[in-house]
Amino acid sequence: MTILVTGGAGFIGSNFIIDWLAERDEPVINLDQLTYAGNLENLAELRGDPRYAFVRGDIGDRAAIADLLERHAPRAVIHFAAESHVDRSIHGPGDFIQTNVVGTFHLLECARARFSAMDAAGEAAFRFLHVSTDEVYGSLESGAPAFSEVHRYQPNSPYSASKASSDHLVRAYGHTYGLPVLTTHCSNNYGPYQFPEKLIPLMIVNALTGKFLPIYGDGRQIRDWLYVSDHCAAIRRVLDAGRPGETYNIGGWNELPNLDIVRAVVGLLDELHPRADGRSYGEQIVHVADRPGHDRRYAIDAGKIERELGWRPAETFATGIRKTVRWYLDHPDWLANVQSGAYRDWLEKNYTDRNR
Ligand code: NAD
Ligand code: DAU
Repeated sequence: MTILVTGGAGFIGSNFIIDWLAERDEPVINLDQLTYAGNLENLAELRGDPRYAFVRGDIGDRAAIADLLERHAPRAVIHFAAESHVDRSIHGPGDFIQTNVVGTFHLLECARARFSAMDAAGEAAFRFLHVSTDEVYGSLESGAPAFSEVHRYQPNSPYSASKASSDHLVRAYGHTYGLPVLTTHCSNNYGPYQFPEKLIPLMIVNALTGKFLPIYGDGRQIRDWLYVSDHCAAIRRVLDAGRPGETYNIGGWNELPNLDIVRAVVGLLDELHPRADGRSYGEQIVHVADRPGHDRRYAIDAGKIERELGWRPAETFATGIRKTVRWYLDHPDWLANVQSGAYRDWLEKNYTDRNR
């Protein structure tokens, strides 16, 4: 028995593989193209582990994927690979369409071909688990009920539109070809190994390097925050017990405005790693031009996965964010390594022209 993980060198994928192998002995193949967001250092602790294998490749490379599925005969595909950053999708949507839509289509075609060649026992065991996002549901008014699995789709960014497209393809492959698909929609993950283009690690890096902490607009946009290992546990649960064809929302029951998130990070840094001048990192907060089309509020109703599969997050925001800040403080080498020239180019592109 083996599982194939796509995008396993990224933030959530690498946490998923590490947690999987800590919990189980079933081998993992990690297929990742190693874009700017893929980092094999995340998986350094697995070097030499016979249960883990890395294959560099593109989910859109049909011949390579078909060959991989043939050789390893995984009993499940856990599909994380994607372009995942909303701001990048605004600057350049093309890669998002290519990987998230076209790439997912090719991966589904390969899975379908492989599935149709299986015997009855293989078919019964096989799962294609697609990791999607709460962003496909669009933005919520203040006070409106949280997203349930039947909330209408209304993606607002090129990123969320590309994820919505891939969700529809996955659903269609389940409906039309009988591929045993499962789709999960999770909220904002945070934790170790997150690339510092996303809010929390960006704030930590900028604070520690004496830079501004850029808050888009008024900072009152609301997100639900999910500690990454809770997300990984939820995916394992859906894989084990989810009903093919179903979708499951995964959230942390932690709806918070961005400013509160940044203030929590600042408070922990002030406590755990005070500034040399004794002042608060909060002095580095600045408000900058808002993200175009910025969704105001996301909120996840994670009741279905709790009722049907018995999963609930273990971390509160207070416990998860403390672990997270501690992790970044304890891993300065990892942080230094990911801030390459390409990373600095991105900061220049996204932040230089935003008025304060
Ligand atoms: P990430 O950007 O950190 O990692 C993505 C990984 O996919 C990278 O390792 C990258 O090299 C790889 N990849 C990209 N294009 C590829 C291709 N064509 N072929 C093979 N590999 C490719 O992303 P993440 O934050 O870990 O997110 C993982 C998944 O979870 C994504 O599908 C994302 O949409 C979804 N998601 C993320 C969050 C979040 O808060 N991070 C929340 C909801 C859903
Ligand atoms: O909701 C799930 C989604 O969460 C995932 O599908 C995406 O892959 C993931 O990137 C994340 O999207 P967001 O756009 O919510 O994440 P990000 O960390 O980029 O931004 C979080 C919030 O913080 C958002 O309201 C924008 C704001 N922000 C972000 C950055 C990078 C700032 O105010 N300043 C910043 O510099």
